[in-house]
Amino acid sequence: MSPRGKFITFEGLDGSGKSTQIEKLARSLRAHGVSVTVTREPGGTAAGEKIREVLLHSATSGLAPLAEMALMFASRAQHIHEVILPALAEGRVVLCDRFTDSTEAYQGGGRKLGSKPVLLLHEILCGNLQPDLTILLDNEVSFSVARARRRNRKHKSGRSDKDENRFEQENRAFFGRVRGAYLAIAARESHRVQVINARGTPGETHAAIMELVRKKLKV
Ligand code: TYD
Repeated sequence: MSPRGKFITFEGLDGSGKSTQIEKLARSLRAHGVSVTVTREPGGTAAGEKIREVLLHSATSGLAPLAEMALMFASRAQHIHEVILPALAEGRVVLCDRFTDSTEAYQGGGRKLGSKPVLLLHEILCGNLQPDLTILLDNEVSFSVARARRRNRKHKSGRSDKDENRFEQENRAFFGRVRGAYLAIAARESHRVQVINARGTPGETHAAIMELVRKKLKV
């Protein structure tokens, strides 16, 4: 089966503004009459959301890097099966907050497992499914991390009872490796990955994303 829809993934450091941009893009595409599915990883399915809790809760310390990578892929395999492929088969545009590039950047780069096991597992567990377009929201490590921490502090003070802090407690060197790995993926797969400077206002970033997506989808 060759999927008829379009698969667009969003990548970037924690606090790079992905969620805001995905919301804005979904709204604009829907206004153009496009059927859109918005989803995320880890998560996106009932089983995936349970795996997400294990992965992101700050109480799950001491999770081995290989176990962490395996759980990311377990969530993804279910997500592809249950959500992504069926939506693409219906001709929908799927906007996914993170996909395998996150595993290559965070577990491969951040946790130093390297790209090779990630790409191999992607082939075995994900049928090597490739996005039609990946938008990498790039920004300096200090900027993104400060933003993510502010957001989590707000959550702690009552806006949400969710603890999704585990990665955000990592240090600057970790996020430096994550960003480096992202930029290396973008250089290697320049036909698929578009790097967008995320330093502008949300409106400016949205306009840049919209232009790329219009070209891809011809809307
Ligand atoms: P997300 O909720 O998208 O975080 P944010 O909104 O802060 O960008 O993702 C949760 C965390 O999971 C994030 O710190 C990155 C991490 N992650 C990985 O380490 N590997 C992966 O494969 C994925 C999908 C996420």
